[in-house]
Amino acid sequence: MTFTNRICRTLHEEHDATIALMERLERLLARHRDGSPPGAGDPALARLLSDLVTGLSTEVARHFDFEEDHLFTMLGEIGEDGIGCHLRDEHLVIRPIGAKIVQLVREAQAQGFDQARWDEFRRLGLDLCDRLTAHAQKEESALLPLVEDNMDAETEARLYQDYVENA
Ligand SMILES: [Fe+2]
Ligand SMILES: [Fe+2]
Repeated sequence: MTFTNRICRTLHEEHDATIALMERLERLLARHRDGSPPGAGDPALARLLSDLVTGLSTEVARHFDFEEDHLFTMLGEIGEDGIGCHLRDEHLVIRPIGAKIVQLVREAQAQGFDQARWDEFRRLGLDLCDRLTAHAQKEESALLPLVEDNMDAETEARLYQDYVENA
């Protein structure tokens, strides 16, 4: 779906970026499906780990905050609070998984992946890939079209300024 509302366009781009990051994580986990941890010193792995920290601890956290503070409340005002509650519940489940992964990645960046750390990372990583990808896709089909149809131009301009221009 193509959006004209700039908030929708921005969130859509961020959903795409999140899904692409989860695909990279999924590919890493698939390469090690025998359970062996990746060796240190692989530049592609180092890049992915660094992108996971940035993506999860800043970009996804900021994106979730914005949706909760401005969009889910707006859904309530147009009688769609069921969707807002459901998406908020998913955030509540996803946030601690993301935080735990960021913690494991920071440890791995300092000390590498030992077997126990890798097993935990793999378990949480697969869970995060499933949940975050499905969540972003759900918002693409259930949240953004409602925002596109119901947000007035003044609110769009104000929120866009807050979220994008003053970032
Ligand atoms: Fe969300
Ligand atoms: Fe989202």
